Amino acid sequence: MNSKIIKGFSKKNKEEKIDWIIENYLDNDTSQKEFLKSYWHQNPKTQKLHDEFIENTISNFYIPFGIAPNFKINDKIYCVPMAIEESSVVAASAKSASFWLNRGGFKAYVISMIKIGHVHFAWYGEYEKLRVAFEKIKSTFYSDTDNLTSNMQKRGGGILNIELINKSDLEPNYYQLMAKFDTKDSMGANFINSLLEEFAKTLKRELANDNSLTEKEQEVQIIMCILSNYTPECIVRSEVSCKVEELTEGTNMSADLFVEKFKQAVHIAQIEPYRATTHNKGIYNGIDSVVIATGNDFRAVEASGHTYAARDGQYRSLTHVKVENGIFTFWIEVPMALGTVGGLTKLHPMVKFAYKLLGNPNAEELMEITATVGLAQNFGALRSLVTTGIQKGHMKMHLLNILNQLGATDEEKIFFVDRFKTETVTHKAVVDLFNELRKK
Ligand code: MEV
Repeated sequence: MNSKIIKGFSKKNKEEKIDWIIENYLDNDTSQKEFLKSYWHQNPKTQKLHDEFIENTISNFYIPFGIAPNFKINDKIYCVPMAIEESSVVAASAKSASFWLNRGGFKAYVISMIKIGHVHFAWYGEYEKLRVAFEKIKSTFYSDTDNLTSNMQKRGGGILNIELINKSDLEPNYYQLMAKFDTKDSMGANFINSLLEEFAKTLKRELANDNSLTEKEQEVQIIMCILSNYTPECIVRSEVSCKVEELTEGTNMSADLFVEKFKQAVHIAQIEPYRATTHNKGIYNGIDSVVIATGNDFRAVEASGHTYAARDGQYRSLTHVKVENGIFTFWIEVPMALGTVGGLTKLHPMVKFAYKLLGNPNAEELMEITATVGLAQNFGALRSLVTTGIQKGHMKMHLLNILNQLGATDEEKIFFVDRFKTETVTHKAVVDLFNELRKK
């Protein structure tokens, strides 16, 4: 019987899942099964690996994996892998990389690598009594979790600090254990969440056994234990600088005018959230594509960056610019919790390739590379915006998408790319010319 609702979908095997969808959502169009299968990997082992990354997998969803070469970061040259669907992003990164290659390259460093997590709990009593009880328990949080932290400690990481935070002015009876961690080369989500759940057990047990507390005070209601994706202390900086006159070498634009407009553009993104959002979105075009290619969690990285961008109460640019003594300096400071071990990093074949290509960086180096691509992307976008406008370059890169939509042949594509070398690409101009040529 045709039904849009199902119980036990996850229990079906892959073929059965597809059959069910085709029967109930796709008018029994069996060609859709062939279509989905055409995106399966030819090697069944590789496909199984992908199937098992998530649940209810029925096929794969491709996005392109591109390369931005010529990135000079801390005097080392990188070919940076970028996974992204938007045309012109990789080209913009590569163009900025080449531009700065001849001007000293990028200087990047990690400011700090601290991650944070909380046990959120409710407690009904006088704060001072909780504070005293917490001080008594504090060392037990560490000793109770020795077995979980010993490996991380061997790598130089572990729990850095545990504090009791009183939030009861914001929410009655609401308190936190706020813990800070060094998770070395791992992003650390599982490590942190496991420890937080242990802290909660310790807190519950130790308060229950504390005879200086009343019966009511011996009870704690654990609300939740979870890391924070906001990592303002896991932060990286990347910058470029050169003499002002070097900025427009080889062009007929005055360097002073370029710098004036560039500074105004960054300042607008500092003071105007509408622009700041687009400005930072462009930065994340670069950052996310490296984060995805290296098997990291781009939602976590973005969420943290946007919160950081709004840390003083207004959403602002993540990049900054200054000109001092004729030197132009442009930089980004951005939080970023990345891992080079754990998660997908040693599983996804393309991710493994990405690491090889980057020379197997550790987490700090990957943070430096990723922030740099964000800065390069922003430099490229701003440079276009304050000079030619963004559409010229963007539409040129988008031309192949338009031609693919029209079903152009390879021969036609060569003709159009050549034809639009000097002309501005617009959707209408391409479609009109295409139709005219096809009529002939
Ligand atoms: C497009 O994906 C990103 C830009 O809009 C960024 C920006 O405006 O700075 C070009």
